[in-house]
Amino acid sequence: MAGRKEVTQQTSTNHDDGRWRHLSVSVPINHRPNHNTSTQIKQKPIISNNMPPSKAKSSSSSSSSSATKKDEIQQSKSPAEFFAEHQSIAGFDNAGKSLYTTLREFIENSLDACESVNVLPDISVSIEEMTQKQFNVLRGVPGANSPGKKVVTTTDVDADATEPPNNDSGNLSSKDSKKLKDQKKTIRAGGEAYFLITVRDNGCGMAHEAIPDLLGRVLSGSKYGVRQTRGKFGLGAKMALIWSKKSTGVPIKIKTSHVKGVRGGGGGSLLNEDGSRKIGPKVSNCVLDIDIYKNCPRVLEHTQQTNTEQWIGTEIQVLVAGNWTTYKSRVVQYLQQLAIITPYARLEMSYTNRSDEKKGMNLRFERRSEQMPAQAREVKHHPSSVNNLLIQQLLEKTSTKSLIKFLTNDLSGISPSVAKKLIERLGNTYDEDMRPDELDDKQVTRLVQLLRSTQDLFKSPDGGCLSPLGEYNLNLGIQKVIEPDIIATARDKPGAYDGHSFIVEAAVSLGGKDAKEGITVVRFANRIPLLFEGGADVATRVANSKIKWSSYKIDNKKDKIGVFVSIVSTKIPFKGTGKEYIGDDITEIQQSVKRAIQNCCQQLRAHLAKRNALRDVKERKSRLLKYIPDISRSVFGILDGMRKRRLEEGDGFERIASPRRRVAGSSPMKHFKTSHSSMDAIMNDLSTGKLSEDAIKQHLTEAVEINAIAGIGDKEDENGGKSKSNKDESEREPLFLVPLYEEAKDSRHVIRHPLFDFYPIGSAV
Ligand SMILES: Nc1ncnc2c1ncn2[C@@H]1O[C@H](COP(=O)(O)OP(=O)(O)OP(=O)(O)O)[C@@H](O)[C@H]1O
Ligand SMILES: [Mg+2]
Repeated sequence: MAGRKEVTQQTSTNHDDGRWRHLSVSVPINHRPNHNTSTQIKQKPIISNNMPPSKAKSSSSSSSSSATKKDEIQQSKSPAEFFAEHQSIAGFDNAGKSLYTTLREFIENSLDACESVNVLPDISVSIEEMTQKQFNVLRGVPGANSPGKKVVTTTDVDADATEPPNNDSGNLSSKDSKKLKDQKKTIRAGGEAYFLITVRDNGCGMAHEAIPDLLGRVLSGSKYGVRQTRGKFGLGAKMALIWSKKSTGVPIKIKTSHVKGVRGGGGGSLLNEDGSRKIGPKVSNCVLDIDIYKNCPRVLEHTQQTNTEQWIGTEIQVLVAGNWTTYKSRVVQYLQQLAIITPYARLEMSYTNRSDEKKGMNLRFERRSEQMPAQAREVKHHPSSVNNLLIQQLLEKTSTKSLIKFLTNDLSGISPSVAKKLIERLGNTYDEDMRPDELDDKQVTRLVQLLRSTQDLFKSPDGGCLSPLGEYNLNLGIQKVIEPDIIATARDKPGAYDGHSFIVEAAVSLGGKDAKEGITVVRFANRIPLLFEGGADVATRVANSKIKWSSYKIDNKKDKIGVFVSIVSTKIPFKGTGKEYIGDDITEIQQSVKRAIQNCCQQLRAHLAKRNALRDVKERKSRLLKYIPDISRSVFGILDGMRKRRLEEGDGFERIASPRRRVAGSSPMKHFKTSHSSMDAIMNDLSTGKLSEDAIKQHLTEAVEINAIAGIGDKEDENGGKSKSNKDESEREPLFLVPLYEEAKDSRHVIRHPLFDFYPIGSAV
């Protein structure tokens, strides 16, 4: 491994609220192309520290190692150059992903800009696709039609398909047609084109003089510090500029209007005395390029005009290569999920294709809530999150004059009494009044060790500085976009890991528009949708393996389950460089996610018990109704047979019953004994036609309906208790036939169902 060299950038500069700054970066160097840059090249070879001296010596002195020596030349790179070379680190893996990430970075900057001044976001995104030809015309590229590596669109493919084949007869041989098909396949697979992207917002805007550094110098931004923001690294917008520089060579255009002193929640008021929003007097226009090797902005145009439109916000325009065909669904998915997590924003996206109007599309997510989450506050570092470097930086920058003041003012969660105890524990080389800059390296190390190991004395970081979306908004966002059948939301108590506070909110939904069977996990971090690398994410892992869905009456294979997990923190512990997932190795976060999902499931269980009861009753009802015609016919047939025999044999009833007569007192049917008079009444109703097959049918149908309604309420209680609607024996009602015989010894042939007992002739003996 080659050596590391620190490339130091300017460390602070003059934004109007003094908040934005540049960072230093240390970059590893392996190989470097031989171009003329500002990079320092020292010829002294580096000997690896890991090698034993003898080996190192022989290695450096070996005659066959000229190549190795070349590799070992120490070089340094600017951060811009490093990220231009390793753009996949920032999510610019290929043309398609770069298009997606460019959009995402601009949209997230816009949301941050609106929320930093507490303004309901209005964000519009325009994407205009063009072919290489159109791009060349736009750019005035000479020799536009000359062959070269073609960057094509799917539109090209369609246009090609309608063009006559290039042979005299106008017909393609099968060989040619196969060749053409293969070509089209290749083109489709590539599908890259050029995209003019414009993102416009109504946020805080940027101060005129700050624009070049904010957008033209890698690792400069206004969002450093212990605060929940979407942006963090001071990199996103510059990566878009670097990608445009690499893929099209076109600079970025910025138009912005800004009110001095209102950015980032600090400084002046946002409103005029009459309650209207303050508008900046000027609009700035800037055309910006970046010098990759010096990591500094190259300003091509920078002007200011009077703000005649009375407009405030920012509009950024960039022309990049991309691939809409393969990333369209990702862009749409991103906007849908963004609409869930920011229901208080109005988001608009229009896609146009210069070659084919029909391919255009518009997406619009209206604002559903005027309730914005409270602004996130910047907090001080918690003692359990410090390290040597951080304490050294804080000691250098502090305005306090004593160690005790430094501990209580510059770190959070340390009261004066705790600070005294700490200083006592540090030993007699420390005292309360020593100046912070008096601490030497060893003393700093001892202080850090003590701070990190004395957790019990400090107040744990609380979630007060964070800005979670809120259950109301989360619910609203999901309703708006997914339209589920049922939804439950929950927020777990604030937690902390490594001195960083976090809050987990979750929602579990069932059913909904385009919902798929099984579990679909939707993840958010600091209110950004995370679309990639979901399998390893803490939310996915917990939902798939730590929740016992069946105990909440949810079938995780057949039910359409949506699991939404939103984590906000002063520092999101992203895994990997792509900022796409949070690992499940931080126990505090993993358990908080589990508790939040379980809480939602518990709420759903009560609803689901009712839903399942309703479904069971419906099924039972339809089963019973199916048999009613047959049963009615049989019952009527039996009764009518009895009536006819009675007519033929005079007092027929007695005689029919007599062969099977038993001692009345021993019959289990004694409760249902039918008197002669009621049997006479039945026979009479049969003769007059009052008791017909239809009447029996109607009676049975009504009974099933009444029982079904009663069954909904008592099928299952909230705790998943046993069903009561399977009425016990004594509650079931007999149908006319029950007491045909005075006693029934054998009831094996009795047909029982929840409402009635049927006793066909000859079975009840
Ligand atoms: N639409 C905007 N409105 C106002 N300020 C903006 C806008 N876009 C960018 N900025 C400013 O430019 C700075 C740099 O933006 P950039 O996206 O490069 O980095 P970041 O948002 O700070 O961090 P990250 O790299 O994580 O996105 C921001 O910190 C912000 O101050
Ligand atoms: Mg950003």
